[in-house]
Amino acid sequence: MTSAYTNTVSSSATSPLRLGIAGLGTVGTGVIRLIREHADLIKNRTGRSLEIVAVSARNRTRNRGVDLSGLTWHDNPVDLAADKQIDVVVELMGGAEGSARDLVEASLKAGKAVVTANKALVARHAQTLAQLSHTHQTPLLFEAAVAGGIPAIKTVREGVAADKATRLGGILNGTSNFILTEMAETGRAFADVLKEAQDKGYAEADPSADIDGWDAAHKLSILTAIAFRPIDFDTLAVSGMRAITTQDIHQARQLGYAIKMLGVAKRLPEDRVEAWVQPCLIPAHSGLAQINGVYNALTIEGPFSGPITISGQGAGEGPTASAVVADLIDLARGHALPLWGRMDELAPIPCEPVEKLPSAFYLRANLNAPADAVIDADKALSEITTLLRNEGIPLAKTLHHTPLGEAPQLIMLTRPIPQEEINRILPILEETTLISGAPLALRIEDLP
Ligand SMILES: NC(=O)c1ccc[n+]([C@@H]2O[C@H](COP(=O)([O-])OP(=O)(O)OC[C@H]3O[C@@H](n4cnc5c(N)ncnc54)[C@H](OP(=O)(O)O)[C@@H]3O)[C@@H](O)[C@H]2O)c1
Repeated sequence: MTSAYTNTVSSSATSPLRLGIAGLGTVGTGVIRLIREHADLIKNRTGRSLEIVAVSARNRTRNRGVDLSGLTWHDNPVDLAADKQIDVVVELMGGAEGSARDLVEASLKAGKAVVTANKALVARHAQTLAQLSHTHQTPLLFEAAVAGGIPAIKTVREGVAADKATRLGGILNGTSNFILTEMAETGRAFADVLKEAQDKGYAEADPSADIDGWDAAHKLSILTAIAFRPIDFDTLAVSGMRAITTQDIHQARQLGYAIKMLGVAKRLPEDRVEAWVQPCLIPAHSGLAQINGVYNALTIEGPFSGPITISGQGAGEGPTASAVVADLIDLARGHALPLWGRMDELAPIPCEPVEKLPSAFYLRANLNAPADAVIDADKALSEITTLLRNEGIPLAKTLHHTPLGEAPQLIMLTRPIPQEEINRILPILEETTLISGAPLALRIEDLP
């Protein structure tokens, strides 16, 4: 295999590939451990060794459980870009701005190949990084940025390179999947399970990136750029999972669905792209519905390849280090593809507005239940369904149920309608005296 770049390492080289690693946290120390533990295997597979020569982190004195003696220490990580003894810069600090961005950009400008696990950086500065990589003929690899140990990027960029994918969808965030799985299996409330996820170290003290969908959005944006074309990250529609209750999960299951936090992208006619992150109902028998706990999964479909689903551990020291070092092995072998796996340089386009995209929806509304009131749920359901039909909302199924100790709930499944129709109807429902609080609407996505 040849390289698409001039500034990469010759595939016939046998000298060590010399690395500078910025960031010695979970992933950085994992990479050091893996390179040392599998040194013979890597040499056998590439014909050369990976040699760590320099490192950088904020705190020089912290014991990180790996031997750093003999390595050059840079207080400023950006100095790795100019360090003449380094062939490849490995950026494992994180953050879309600041030192991580400065280091990656400076390294590409200096003609030094870069490997990173930083999804926020790659998603938010996709065009700048693609241009720098192209202009300076220097590879930037980021397998670990999407779904940790799962070779998601390799699958999309290389495995199905011959096909023209039509849709990809994935469970791209392990924390949100852990929370939904625990809620489904134990019946515990969202806030309770979130606290457990934080105690176990799956979720940050500020869990927003995971449960509000931003982490998944970064990964989806990268996958979309490779499978379809680059998109403008700020136009990707992102909704979180805070409003989902165990009752929603239970009702979805009764109706033959699972609720999963999904990132989905589709190829639309005229080179347009649909991409969004939302909690959705998917068929209970689908491959993605079987992915539980902190596991991630990705399904990609094309007219020739058919649907392919891959799953595994989307985060953690070992899986993420495995993906980083696989990129380093590619460089050591002299393999390097263009950033998005294509020769043309496409400017990012806005995603299709999610409001215009049709889908069937799950609708849940809690009935207003003043103390001591006797609620006629049949009558309330009839009134609400009449209201929805009068508003032109086509319904496929309606039912009501009463969770133990709570007010009755109305559950309705619509036929496919644009999301803007659902957005229009939610405030109308909320305004009726029959309904208490905000109704919930979730897309139903028919993934294989
Ligand atoms: N953890 C995962 O499972 C996982 C999975 C996929 C992708 N990633 C990505 O991998 C990257 C690293 O994640 P992580 O979990 O390893 O993070 P982490 O444990 O918080 O480690 C970050 C490291 O970067 C260093 N650092 C941060 N800012 C710095 C600066 N301005 N100058 C020098 N060093 C700096 C820190 O130094 P000190 O130690 O001295 O504070 C620390 O060693 C992120 O982009 C993340 O999104 C992580």
